[in-house]
Amino acid sequence: MKYRNLGKSGLQLSELSLGSWLTFGKQIGNNIAKDLMHLAYDNGVNFFDNAEIYANGESEIVMGEILKNAGWARDSYVVSSKVFFGTRGLIDSKPTQKGLNRKHITEACNAALKRLQVDYLDLFFCHRPDKTTPIEETVWTMHNLITQGKILYWGTSEWSAQEYMEAHMVAKQYNLIGPTMEQPQYNMLHRDKFEVEFDQLYKTVGMGTTIWSPLASGVLTGKYNSDNIPTDTRMGIEGLEWLKEKTVTGQNLNRIDVLQNLAAELGISMPILAIAWCLKNKNVSTVMLGASKVSQLEETLKAGEAVHLLTAEVMQQIDEALGNVPVRPNF
Ligand SMILES: NC(=O)c1ccc[n+]([C@@H]2O[C@H](COP(=O)([O-])OP(=O)(O)OC[C@H]3O[C@@H](n4cnc5c(N)ncnc54)[C@H](OP(=O)(O)O)[C@@H]3O)[C@@H](O)[C@H]2O)c1
Repeated sequence: MKYRNLGKSGLQLSELSLGSWLTFGKQIGNNIAKDLMHLAYDNGVNFFDNAEIYANGESEIVMGEILKNAGWARDSYVVSSKVFFGTRGLIDSKPTQKGLNRKHITEACNAALKRLQVDYLDLFFCHRPDKTTPIEETVWTMHNLITQGKILYWGTSEWSAQEYMEAHMVAKQYNLIGPTMEQPQYNMLHRDKFEVEFDQLYKTVGMGTTIWSPLASGVLTGKYNSDNIPTDTRMGIEGLEWLKEKTVTGQNLNRIDVLQNLAAELGISMPILAIAWCLKNKNVSTVMLGASKVSQLEETLKAGEAVHLLTAEVMQQIDEALGNVPVRPNF
């Protein structure tokens, strides 16, 4: 396992990490969740991602129990939570149970600490921007949580470059600790924001990134291209029809057809190609993996070994297959 600094911070995260969205407390049993975390940790993964909304708080409870029983030294791993949606979701939460106001951020942090059974969160993310709360209030609250020792670093998720910079400017104005990292979607099918909009932020404020859905929710494994599409997958989960409509499109499947041939020529699997491609980008601090089966994680944890295969020529072939190349000044 290789480690990368989280942006300009001194914190070193494993370049591959493990997330729990849709899996822990929902799609998979607790024993599989435990096996996944142990496999990850034993292979050098030191960052586990979570959020208050994941399985309505259950994902943090499952992860907390695993962490407690694992007996791993607290200083050997990094654990995160995210605040914004509440544990009930935006629609079912009362007005004080969601958003990025001082009350909800503080209470969400305290609740996450309890569910995860830890004394502090290493990373705490604002899961989405909150247009109804002044940015000053959010930045002050995050700063205060740091000074109280409840969190170590704070960041954002799916914020625009402008919103991220606003948070920095407020922090600078009041001498507070600004955001260290952003958690954006980044994968072969979704690249513009990461590569273009954020481009300056890596340089100017040293933004770190914990990227999500490197396999576009499993679509980039190629399993939806087969004649025998498995039914026990994320795309079969009730309520996620929107995700299927958005990602399992004819255009994406055509692109993946070409990429699968390329992966075969390189002697690697499609999931490995897709994750190694994310790792190739130096502005990625860590690629957050997801898995519903141990065998999946056994495979994807090997992606680092394939990065050297992605020569300039191969990257060019991938760009041609994808046909969605933004201006990429950082590659
Ligand atoms: N901040 C945010 O808004 C946000 C949003 C989404 C995710 N995240 C974070 O990012 C983490 C990773 O995202 P993600 O789970 O969407 O990642 P992903 O890599 O795009 O999708 C993971 C899913 O792909 C399938 N898969 C993985 N490896 C496979 C393999 N080798 N062969 C076949 N199928 C495989 C599994 O689903 P099936 O077996 O069910 O097909 C697995 O659960 C999440 O857990 C969460 O922590 C954050």
